[in-house]
Amino acid sequence: MKPMFNPSLMCMDLLNIKEQIQVLNKRADFYHVDIMDGHFVKNITLSPDFVKAIHPICDIPLDCHLMVTTPDDFIEPLAKAGAGFICPHAETINSEAFRIINKIHDNGCKVGVVLNPATPVSYIKHYIHKLDKITVMSVDPGFSGQPFIPEMLDKIRELKQLKEENGYHYLIEVDGSCNKRTFKQLTEAGTEVFVVGSTGLFGLDSNLETAWDKMIADF
Ligand code: DX5
Ligand code: ZN
Repeated sequence: MKPMFNPSLMCMDLLNIKEQIQVLNKRADFYHVDIMDGHFVKNITLSPDFVKAIHPICDIPLDCHLMVTTPDDFIEPLAKAGAGFICPHAETINSEAFRIINKIHDNGCKVGVVLNPATPVSYIKHYIHKLDKITVMSVDPGFSGQPFIPEMLDKIRELKQLKEENGYHYLIEVDGSCNKRTFKQLTEAGTEVFVVGSTGLFGLDSNLETAWDKMIADF
């Protein structure tokens, strides 16, 4: 499978959003929007209002990573704002996972689930077949620019094997420290979608087209 790229918009140059979206519209596969509440993780970044504001100029799906303790509250606002994927953390939905998954689908969006580094694949086994995307966090969530956690490679391999053996349709995504130091091992393990942030894309060059070319030169 051709690698897919999901630029993490919290890492973009926020003074030049429109120009960068125009560059990425022709190159990327999704837009990764990190939404935090200051409780599930100790940071606050983008929001449903941000999704609403940029949606009219986006040609590819907006993929919303929910680092919040009450994802249910965000489903309708995000769907109305134009989200393509809504992706809560498994750790926040397991008391009502089936209701949340159905609600996201009923609102016309695809469902992704995100796993913290310390959360095993077995945690989502009863609903894994319903998921459109599974994201392996390869850093603890909340902040960009953290070091890669190599123990996550086994988790990616496990998801790849489960997908092949059972014919599941989920995309296998990795979020956190996807960059030239990790692309090769992540690809070999089975990563299909790379969330590229500070070191993977935006920090490579002040010109985003040049940064993109530098990034894909590693594939
Ligand atoms: C981490 C975020 C990531 C982050 C990735 O909580 O979900 O999207 O921005 O950034 P880098 O590539 O800098 O680790
Ligand atoms: Zn993220």
